[in-house]
Amino acid sequence: MQPGPIGIFDSGYGGLTILEDIRSELPEYDYLYLGDNARAPYGNRSFETVYAFTRQAVRFLFDQGCSLVILACNTASAKALRTIQQVDLPNMSPDRRVLGILRPTVEVLGSLTTSRHVGLTATPGTVLSGSYPLEVRKLFPDIVMTSEACPMWVPLVENGEQETGGAAFFVERHIRTLFERDPQIDTLLLGCTHYPLLRPLIEQYVPKGVQVVTQGAYVAKSLKDYLSRHPEMESCCTRNASCAFLTTESVDKFEESASIFVKRSITALHVKLD
Ligand code: DGL
Repeated sequence: MQPGPIGIFDSGYGGLTILEDIRSELPEYDYLYLGDNARAPYGNRSFETVYAFTRQAVRFLFDQGCSLVILACNTASAKALRTIQQVDLPNMSPDRRVLGILRPTVEVLGSLTTSRHVGLTATPGTVLSGSYPLEVRKLFPDIVMTSEACPMWVPLVENGEQETGGAAFFVERHIRTLFERDPQIDTLLLGCTHYPLLRPLIEQYVPKGVQVVTQGAYVAKSLKDYLSRHPEMESCCTRNASCAFLTTESVDKFEESASIFVKRSITALHVKLD
């Protein structure tokens, strides 16, 4: 296989928060970020749609020369990863790999929670898939996970409203409901790539002593570990410390909205997925 960049896929902008952490942990590699912004958000879409869109994106990144693709999107990881790994990859390109961000996140929960009660906030798609509790049961059967779908949080962030009274209203509402359902939660997982931007607000509303967990750093460490355990994949990843951005939206829109997520200017190229 010809070496190429590591593909990072997200439905939209949120994966940029994961990419930032990956690049600070593994700065030497090349990255190709693809945001399906024209069709985002995925969070309220059906299984069939998220799966079909994600499969297109994976195939596209393979065609661009990526041997390793990270689904830096919880909704895509929750709804499409397993089927892509088990059904598509063997026919599409058996030597390439697609990894998600649920497993690396769940792996750390066991050492973070003392009460063994964990809360999950995520998109309706991620919550309805049941994928997080499923992974938790596999690794830590003693942990009770209570999930809360927060359909308004992504649009609030995408519209730059994460510090306004509107965001406070919706954050308070979901955090209150979650902790009413399980007051023993001591660890709250933000299981959506957009939610790190709401973290300061979320921390205002969680009960004292509850730790709020974001994923990026854990995903980055897990990727580092994966590359060290899989030299055959590592050797397929080029190392020139570059990063390119592709979007299915207009380039102007992408570059403007990306600035909500990363504090530097980004230049993107427009692509079509089908
Ligand atoms: N990236 C998605 C996630 O982490 C959030 C945005 C969307 O709904 O498409 O679940």
